[in-house]
Amino acid sequence: MCGICFVCGLSSSLCQIEEQASLTHNLLHHRGPDSCGDMTFSITDELSATFHGCVLWLQGSVLTPQPIIDKEGNVLLWNGDILAGYEIPGEKSDTKYISEYLTGKDEEEIMCFLSAIKGPWSLIYYQKCTKRLYFGRDVFGRHSLVWRWPTEQSWMFLVSSVTQRSAEVTEVPALGLYYVDFSHSKMDVNFHVSLIPWTHVDESNLAALPSTIHTQRQKLVSPIRNRLNISLPTDEVLETLRALPTSLENDHIDMLYNALKDDIDRLLEVLKTSIQRRVDMCPQKCQRCTNTQDKCSHSRIAVLFSGGLDSAMIALLLDSCLPSSESVDLLNVAFEQRTPQRPEKKKSQLNCATNGIVPSKDYDVPDRLSGRRCWQQLMEIRPGRCWNFVEIDVTGEELARQRESTISHLVAPLNSVLDDSIGCALWFGGRGEGTLEGSPYVSPARVLLCGMGADEQLGGYSRHRGRFSAGSWPALLEEIDMEISRIHTRNLGRDNRILADHGRAPRFPYLDEDVVSMLNSVPIWRKANLNMPRGVGEKILLRTACAHLGLTTAAGLPKRAIQFGSRIAKLENSKEKGSDTCSRLVGN
Ligand SMILES: *[C@@H]1O[C@H](CO)[C@@H](O)[C@H](O)[C@H]1NC(C)=O
Repeated sequence: MCGICFVCGLSSSLCQIEEQASLTHNLLHHRGPDSCGDMTFSITDELSATFHGCVLWLQGSVLTPQPIIDKEGNVLLWNGDILAGYEIPGEKSDTKYISEYLTGKDEEEIMCFLSAIKGPWSLIYYQKCTKRLYFGRDVFGRHSLVWRWPTEQSWMFLVSSVTQRSAEVTEVPALGLYYVDFSHSKMDVNFHVSLIPWTHVDESNLAALPSTIHTQRQKLVSPIRNRLNISLPTDEVLETLRALPTSLENDHIDMLYNALKDDIDRLLEVLKTSIQRRVDMCPQKCQRCTNTQDKCSHSRIAVLFSGGLDSAMIALLLDSCLPSSESVDLLNVAFEQRTPQRPEKKKSQLNCATNGIVPSKDYDVPDRLSGRRCWQQLMEIRPGRCWNFVEIDVTGEELARQRESTISHLVAPLNSVLDDSIGCALWFGGRGEGTLEGSPYVSPARVLLCGMGADEQLGGYSRHRGRFSAGSWPALLEEIDMEISRIHTRNLGRDNRILADHGRAPRFPYLDEDVVSMLNSVPIWRKANLNMPRGVGEKILLRTACAHLGLTTAAGLPKRAIQFGSRIAKLENSKEKGSDTCSRLVGN
């Protein structure tokens, strides 16, 4: 991951600009610990700008520092992974490739370039001859970008991966490619930004934008090939659905698999390719071995692992994407439980459960128990690999400390109770500090695979069940359509800010362009069949695929959100609603 930042303002207030940049510096540095650079120059007589880039080395034979400046004086800050769409020679860094590619290109050529990228990105690009600053995020907003607009108090404009929490900072909506034309635009009340929207963005979304964002007529072509399949099941289809088994018990798995075979096989293929792309773009050495000559067989890849369906499937497919000599870290997070003492009898049973190690019973939260079970089954069906089950235990005190010093800045500008509990759970999970078989352990992984995006696409949330019971298939379809189309405005920027803070690249295999295209093409009733019971019907396609490959523990688990599974929600005030503003985040 990288941290990128652009600040500009009146030359007369240069120290203010530099102060803003330095406030942001620490947070950027966490995202890109391997190198940090900056440059300051005058855009016009009145305006000065600073570019700041911190790099995490993930690709190319040597690290390319940022910002990078080409022979025409254009400046590029790139925080992205080109996973497909362009053939970048293995030894070359993608930042260098893009910088050379964009030299001398006009607006339309820049748009074409971005449209063809498969993979997450955010970019800031200053084109010297036109005095235009381009910036934007990929089609799902997988990489974070926030902005701070000029105000009377401070005529300064900032675009950054992350910055200090402040009321004036908001997320850059992932609606397309933005630009500021500094040959006309001044830092005053008329300051505005232009937007070239993605083709799939609804007119209603654009109409709701403030008048300081000028929507252009041109469109940025979306890299998602298929739109959501909106066909509804015919009576005949419903008849065949009713004939299917309603559990995932042994002999039922084959029957369900046969009924869904074509789509399961396609899904497994695109998902495996998606994971392969995400692990191929990673140096051959773990975080700790970067500067050593030795061959490294530590874990380069970790999975955020609750033992639930989405993360289990990623771990299982990951096995066929990596050399068998390489270990994989399964990061499992649990928060201290403050429940009353359990009966003595149960305690002593627990104490002799494992060989000599006293189990930390205070952390036996639902995700810990399901994670352990799933890990054991993974070892049985994929015995050739070393699977490191990393137990990450978080006390209430440490939670409060890290929230105050770091996490609240990363969650911002979001601020709800739900943002707080998910943000904190992800931050500790992604940090990868815990115990491995009872000994202290810190994951050295560079890449962290996460299951985000499966629930939205495959109907995994309980609200999907609610919509289905109220309005049957059309209502379910409408809900899924809405959720996929607004995925970019929801949580991914937050999750990216949180997870990238540990100098690892979080990557989301279910949100690969080709996986989304494939799932979009499948009719709704083959993705989720909510006539089936809870824990079976949601995400039936993925569930059956998982059971078919032998991971039956995970295949049979109902959805459990991380804030409940890790029990962080229990630690806090149980009277709060998820949508309330979180007093712990915004401070006093
Ligand atoms: C949508 O699903 C139906 C039913 O399986 C299928 O006939 C149709 O071709 C699909 N449409 C698209 C655009 O994939």
